[in-house]
Amino acid sequence: MGFPSVRMRRLRRTPALRHLVTNIRVHPSNLVYPLFVDENAKTPVPINSIPDYYRLPIDYVADATGKTLEQGVKAVLLFGIPSKRDETGSGAFAVDGIVQRGIRKLKNEFEDELVVMTDVCLCEYTTHGHCGIVKDKEIVNDHTLEFLQKMAVSHAEAGVDIVAPSSMMDGQVRFIREALDDSGFDEVAIMAYSAKYASCFYGTFREAVDSAPSFGDRKCYQMGYGNSDEALREMELDANEGADILMVKPALPYLDIISLAKSNFTAPVAAYNVSGEYAMVKAAARMGWLDEKAAVLELLTGIKRAGADIIVTYFAKDVASWLNQF
Ligand code: PBG
Repeated sequence: MGFPSVRMRRLRRTPALRHLVTNIRVHPSNLVYPLFVDENAKTPVPINSIPDYYRLPIDYVADATGKTLEQGVKAVLLFGIPSKRDETGSGAFAVDGIVQRGIRKLKNEFEDELVVMTDVCLCEYTTHGHCGIVKDKEIVNDHTLEFLQKMAVSHAEAGVDIVAPSSMMDGQVRFIREALDDSGFDEVAIMAYSAKYASCFYGTFREAVDSAPSFGDRKCYQMGYGNSDEALREMELDANEGADILMVKPALPYLDIISLAKSNFTAPVAAYNVSGEYAMVKAAARMGWLDEKAAVLELLTGIKRAGADIIVTYFAKDVASWLNQF
């Protein structure tokens, strides 16, 4: 059977028919909204490199989250900008640290209506800007694990639902799982940044949180973009170490990795549509070269079609409001 009895255009004739046969849809409840909580800010500070995005003082966090929830986005991912940094990133696990305060505020206000996630990594808290403990210009893997454990447990004590280790230290998922369990937090889940590539698309984020490394780069711990088998090994290790959700980051240049994640594992797959991917769209839209809404819907649907169950994106709130208009 083929043409003329088969005519593919029959099901494309009207919007209602096209909607009827659509099998991939982005839904607000699968989106995660990143939030920057800034200990130094008194009012929201616009982030140059992430247009229409702000570093928020703690008192603005609940309000911003409330607006996001209204659109049906039920998860936020917190990043902190501390007032002080040091060699070992001690602000990362301080009881009254900026992220710990953010978690408490949000869980008090929204309880279980909201999923609170946190990034577990030292780079925003260290003077050198690396994701781990540095000794003689080396980022020391095993010593860093103890610090990541403290950070994850301090987030759990504040009431976090999901911790997301992103420092790409070997064994981080296992160590964090053990520390959480030993401290009585066996219900706190782990979303592992498993296949996290060393990417130029984080440059915009590092400008936002001032975490660019003061020497070298992150290539000795984050993955090289020429590797795909290695992503499978990373994901397999993290799945075995107890990750509840496997993440691929960035999203758009790594749709094949998202697809591999989906076909090889049964855990939910998350994709991080990172700051540089956001900035590209914003810049082209501002120039009048792209229709922002059309571009974002097409891109996020592509990430979903590749196999992502969950998408972390700076567009979350906007895209949810557009989807709600359909
Ligand atoms: C922390 C971290 C980074 C991002 C998320 N968590 C920066 C980095 O690894 O350099 C980047 C997020 C983005 O660009 O949107 N390590």
